[in-house]
Amino acid sequence: MTNDPDLVSVPPPGCPAHTDHASPVPLYGPRYAADPGLVFDRLRRSGPVAPVELAPGVHAKLVTGYYAALGVLRSPQMFSKDPRRWRALAEGEVPPDSPVIPMMGYRPNALFADGTAHTRLRQAITDSLDRVDPHALRGYAERSADTLIDRFAPRGEAELLAGYAGVLPLLIFNRLFGLDDSDSDRLVAALAKMFEGGAGAEEGDALFGRYVQDLVALKRARPGQDMTSWLMSHPSQLTDEEMLHQCTLLIAAGTEPVQNLIGNALRLLLADDRFAGSLSGGSMSIDAALDEVLWLDPPMANYAVHYPLRDVDLGGVRLKEGEPVVVSLAAANTDPALTHAMQRSGNRAHLAFSAGPHTCPARDAARLIAAVAIERLMDRVPDVELAVPVNELQWRPGPFHRALTTLPVRFTPIQIDETSGDSSWNLAPSAWIRPAATSTPRPPDSATPARRRRWSFLAEWWRGR
Ligand code: HEM
Repeated sequence: MTNDPDLVSVPPPGCPAHTDHASPVPLYGPRYAADPGLVFDRLRRSGPVAPVELAPGVHAKLVTGYYAALGVLRSPQMFSKDPRRWRALAEGEVPPDSPVIPMMGYRPNALFADGTAHTRLRQAITDSLDRVDPHALRGYAERSADTLIDRFAPRGEAELLAGYAGVLPLLIFNRLFGLDDSDSDRLVAALAKMFEGGAGAEEGDALFGRYVQDLVALKRARPGQDMTSWLMSHPSQLTDEEMLHQCTLLIAAGTEPVQNLIGNALRLLLADDRFAGSLSGGSMSIDAALDEVLWLDPPMANYAVHYPLRDVDLGGVRLKEGEPVVVSLAAANTDPALTHAMQRSGNRAHLAFSAGPHTCPARDAARLIAAVAIERLMDRVPDVELAVPVNELQWRPGPFHRALTTLPVRFTPIQIDETSGDSSWNLAPSAWIRPAATSTPRPPDSATPARRRRWSFLAEWWRGR
């Protein structure tokens, strides 16, 4: 089940050598965010698996070794992906409003399914993704990127995460789902409102629910050549409820990591001497920057949460049945056991897209979108530069994402001929702006009704708490 057959074994009951006394290391907060590599080095001293805290009081084991990570990711007979097996949550030790729940709580989608139930949902997703024409995808991506650049180009400054990298995937999804470009403002506005928090979040939740429900209803009535219709007509025969959840998974799983891949690669291209500090003047290619980020700053830093089906020993540490085992895709990629040559540009053996049965089904699409986003920016605003020194850029403090809070840039303003644009791409500028995530939780809004918001996890997913 692993490259090393001795890596995972069932310990003899009560064996003291397998008792883990190390105290958990926090995987959150500004200190962790400032230098996760230091934390991974410390954890590695305990071996390839070590205890961590994902949020105050939320305990997990973190896998930092590359081969140990592969052992977990490729062993579905030993590790479940279903959070309903999470003992501490089921037994009330982790409160249902813990900040990790939006990322770790169960929802009926492919990511949280095992065995044949997973195969059925995943097959519908992969077969539908396979039908997406990469040339058409490139076309949508270029057009969407140009639309966004038109918005900020006359200003000579922009915040590239909220105004570009985060919105671009939404415009593309809207198209892939088979909706008109004009519908994308419903999606963007819904998510922007969710980010506002408070009473706005309630409205955003309702808007998002309506967006996916209308999408499913429309495509049941009038199928077309689009992802929604392909998912529906798949032999897996997804119900409307399943359609809602798989479309939501695609949006959630597809937007945040793409935003962070674009953001982290732009940071590298704009600030690293090897890239000559400018998008146009650098000697290293965009592809090389994407490879480097996927190895060294992968957008999903720690995720791929698994739950042991029974007590099991991994790398000398006992993993208890039902305890969360989080794979550090970032630490595994930088495992000192890997040779430097392996991490060179062009080698795609990194774990940024995970591995095993739940490996990301959209790695090619994700790379394509990120590459186009950077290419278009380079082409349209060649003198773009960071508006603050690189060491003043802040990383978001949550355990799961490797994401900047903002990416402010400046450049020579460019006048856009308004009359030459496509009027269907007519989003209200305010709908594009999402507040940057900070380490300070929003105060609860007393005006917000206590009603459960069905899709509100999306905002937390993005915010990466
Ligand atoms: C740079 C961009 C991306 C990165 C780094 C990334 C990374 C990942 C990772 C690490 C997983 C495994 C998570 C786990 O096991 O818990 C995953 C799963 C998944 N990703 Fe991506 N992803 C990216 C883009 C996308 C895009 C654009 C889409 C949709 C078009 C997408 C759809 C999915 C889906 C549906 C799954 C669940 C697969 C399953 O459970 O079988 N991802 N992704």
